[in-house]
Amino acid sequence: MGRGSNLAAIHRYLSATNQPVQIALAVFTRAASPAYALAKDLGISSCVVPAKEMPAFERQVLSLITDYRIELIALAGFMKQLSENFLSLVQIPVLNIHPALLPRYGGKGMYGMAVHEAVFAAGEELSGASIHRVDPLYDHGEILAQKTVDIRDCKSASEVAKAVLKAEHELYGPTICKVLLRL
Ligand code: GAR
Repeated sequence: MGRGSNLAAIHRYLSATNQPVQIALAVFTRAASPAYALAKDLGISSCVVPAKEMPAFERQVLSLITDYRIELIALAGFMKQLSENFLSLVQIPVLNIHPALLPRYGGKGMYGMAVHEAVFAAGEELSGASIHRVDPLYDHGEILAQKTVDIRDCKSASEVAKAVLKAEHELYGPTICKVLLRL
């Protein structure tokens, strides 16, 4: 997880709407991540599990799921691929969020600011955000929620990023609740 803005938005949404859903645990891959400090400020239980060795990471996450009775995993800013074995063992929904999930901007290296820079440089009028299930073969599985973002007024890639992030924040909390509460 990077800045943790999606985590903060989910936390805000759950508190503001009084949903019967709680953030049981925020898992970070680096203690140095600004998101880790943010989670502490928000009073969210958190821990660090390094993702350098993915088999060890996945084993630890599987035990955390049992220990904390976790019912859904919502990834944000996670840049690794979860294995087919892990995804078949978890038996709970695993969601991820991506900016501009258009086929032409979803390729290798298209994460972080790179995708917004490419969208801006191409002079696109629209970008967007998608929440999807994590697929065992490829990260982008079934799309659960999507929002188009009009970027005609954006004057830089950073403004595109800001507009897309706002859409992500509006989507993630409600989508998590829909999946968990089967709405
Ligand atoms: C978000 O923009 C999300 O779409 C992206 O990382 C950012 C995390 O922001 N995710 C990916 O690119 C997934 N491969 P945050 O740390 O502020 O929530």
